[in-house]
Amino acid sequence: MDDRPQLSRRRFVRTAGVLGAGLLVACTDDPLAVPAPPDAAKGGKPGPPGGGGDGGGTRNPLRIPATQAPTGPLTVAPASVDLGGGQQSRVWAYNGQFPGPTLQVQRGGTNTLQLQNGLSQETITHWHGMLVDDVNDGHPRHAVQPGQSFAYDYTVDQRATMNWYHPHPHELTGEQVAMGLAGAFIIRDQVEQGLGLPAGLPYEVPLIVRDASFDKNGDMQYKPRSGGFEGNTPLVNGTLDAGLDVDAAVYRFRILNGSNARIYRLAWSNGAPFILIGNDGGLLPAADPDVTEITLSPAERVDVLVDLRGRAGSKVMLQDLNAGWDLLELNVGTTVVDNLTIPGALDTIQPLVQDGETREFSFDGMSKINGKVYDMAASEFTVQKGVTERWRLTTKGNAPHPVHVHGAYFQVVSRTGGRDRLFPWEGGWKDTVLLEDGETVEVLIRFDHSAVSGLYLLHCHKLEHEDMGMMANFTVE
Ligand code: C2O
Ligand code: CU
Ligand code: CU
Repeated sequence: MDDRPQLSRRRFVRTAGVLGAGLLVACTDDPLAVPAPPDAAKGGKPGPPGGGGDGGGTRNPLRIPATQAPTGPLTVAPASVDLGGGQQSRVWAYNGQFPGPTLQVQRGGTNTLQLQNGLSQETITHWHGMLVDDVNDGHPRHAVQPGQSFAYDYTVDQRATMNWYHPHPHELTGEQVAMGLAGAFIIRDQVEQGLGLPAGLPYEVPLIVRDASFDKNGDMQYKPRSGGFEGNTPLVNGTLDAGLDVDAAVYRFRILNGSNARIYRLAWSNGAPFILIGNDGGLLPAADPDVTEITLSPAERVDVLVDLRGRAGSKVMLQDLNAGWDLLELNVGTTVVDNLTIPGALDTIQPLVQDGETREFSFDGMSKINGKVYDMAASEFTVQKGVTERWRLTTKGNAPHPVHVHGAYFQVVSRTGGRDRLFPWEGGWKDTVLLEDGETVEVLIRFDHSAVSGLYLLHCHKLEHEDMGMMANFTVE
């Protein structure tokens, strides 16, 4: 079952290489033309998924992946899963689960997972947001062939946050993520635990938001476009039309945009604010209680609280204002739980001060950084450890480009042109920042984690751009 998508994937990348990125702008593979999703295609329930929100309590219970320590086997293979409503869909899964198990570790713990490749193509798993040595980073040069394995072994020593894991093989990342390979990876630490925030079920819930398309059998389908794969159906934790029964309490949602290319503008249907407390790299310096919309590009995370204590007996929908999608309905029961004093100050973050050079990175076409397509064997530049550099990110078009760096978090200091401002979810420590057309985004970055040394990656996290070569190796020493 994984042969056909692999062939189309290879053909897509090869075509991109022959034609060059410029011609592919005209590609008109219409994402709306793909067949209906499983429940509509098989008559499982009426109406298009995601367009519901009828308030009739008919939504599918939100799947919450099992939490486990990062140890033991991590098998990547095709699997059949229930996306809600009982319909089985073929996907590619970590340990048979979609999304994969939520990994969780206390700061200072280790990841000793053993990746087993049960696909018919190469793979390697990257720990997005983890600060690790370059052998454990999941670089594409470490991809393993079908039937082979890769043993990870590293210590997790960084701030509490929600990272994630996903494949990172050369030219195949888009397909493997779209087919279902991704999971959350939560780090806990004493700073976070000292704040008394909800941790674990029922009041802390990870939400992996993504889009998907399905073939006529209701199986996951990857139809890449050079401009980025966009599916026609939203999934939250692999659930179609997701709903969650909740108490009238404070909930903490750890939200990841796990899409290949789609950007969400998240909001609650009743206009209630998100209380924003963290993002990619962990807690912000202070809670922002007043964020009514959050723009989240692929790979970005936010940590938000929502106060449902005054809303017993009501329903609230998490929506995407960009696509007009209903993502997750909260069905607030009558049990009122006063579970939290919402903290103001959260953690101290020292602003970085530049003492090294300024580098320019232009994200051009759909496949190049500074005019170059990715060369897996080359290192394009070298960064000195402990030195704070300014990286200026620009584009000549074909944005959005969600720009991601391995091996360090950065602080976003300015955005000029385009949206011309920074947003509350861009404070603190980031590993991915959205670059839109016309924008120049400056970040300060310092590679100073003791484990980080060797070859790392800078790339566009729109996975089709990444697969076509909008990626660069660099060396930290
Ligand atoms: Cu989330 Cu280099 O990737
Ligand atoms: Cu990463
Ligand atoms: Cu891009």
